[in-house]
Amino acid sequence: MTRVRTAAVGCVLTLALGSPLAAQRRVASLDAQQGRTENPYTSAEDVAAGQTAFRSRCASCHGFDGMGNRGPDLTRDVFRHGSSDRALFLNILNGIAGTGMPSVRLSDKEMWQIVAYVRSLRRQGGPVDGDPVAGRQVYDRAACVRCHWIDGEGGRLGPDLTSVGWRRSARHLRASILDPDDDIDADYRQVTVRPRGGGATRGILLNEDAFSIQLLDSLERLRSFPKTDLDGIERGTASLMPSFEGRINAADVTNLVAYLASLKGE
Ligand code: HEC
Ligand code: HEC
Repeated sequence: MTRVRTAAVGCVLTLALGSPLAAQRRVASLDAQQGRTENPYTSAEDVAAGQTAFRSRCASCHGFDGMGNRGPDLTRDVFRHGSSDRALFLNILNGIAGTGMPSVRLSDKEMWQIVAYVRSLRRQGGPVDGDPVAGRQVYDRAACVRCHWIDGEGGRLGPDLTSVGWRRSARHLRASILDPDDDIDADYRQVTVRPRGGGATRGILLNEDAFSIQLLDSLERLRSFPKTDLDGIERGTASLMPSFEGRINAADVTNLVAYLASLKGE
């Protein structure tokens, strides 16, 4: 199953990253080419300009205040993909392959100003509330393992959570548990196919072309259907993940978020 998904994702990535345009972009920055490591733009005015640019270019994913949303909290001062000014600069310039972090191509000056702003955010976030150990028990009780993979164990219907503490903010983790329909991961689109003979199969869309559609059904079986055999295909706007609002009490949700935020494996 995983191999099928990885192949599909890999194909999309090659298309997105292997294009000559992407290659051109990667060398378009003089500071990147010359290996500049120090931020030349760190005055209060630079930080203010960086904040303005951040709010228009980055806030949709990293939050208005940098504390994260679908993208990670950037106030932690420790970054998975490199914590130096140069690493931040290159991650903005090139994006981070294989993740939801796009290349945001701006002038070198604007990118350095954003780096200065991100730096100014350090430790404003503070620690995540809640008890991760108690949160793990909530995870077990709620049977999240049925659909999610952590450290070598679990189901494949939902995303691998092994490194979710790096990838996502506490805010996004909480929203994912309470309101999964709000922000559905593009790799986990739900579909229902209705074969001509009757019945229906629901699952996660893996692949589709003009003639056939493949999905992963609720038992994690790969199912393939020729389109000519189908009465219809319904594309769900809801997540396959149920909402746990009201099913897990407030304190336990906080503990669960603390547990997920602590997951920083590779
Ligand atoms: C479309 C959503 C999106 C936009 C827009 C976006 N990012 Fe990201 N960014 C992400 C995601 C998702 C990640 C997590 C990558 C991963 O899986 O580790 C990320 C990662 C990062 C990282 C690395 C964090 C780490 O721990 O190493 C930095 C730094 C960053 N983004 C800065 C920015 C800045 C600055 C901007 C605006 C110029 C920006 N991002 C725009 C989604 C986005
Ligand atoms: C029936 C399967 C299923 C169950 C049970 C389930 N999930 Fe999910 N989960 C999914 C799917 C599918 C997605 C991706 C679609 C989406 O974003 O809603 C998802 C997304 C998530 C995300 C977002 C991951 C990311 O990278 O943004 C988190 C966090 C999460 N689930 C946590 C949990 C927790 C905690 C539990 C138990 C309380 C749980 N899930 C139970 C299927 C499930």
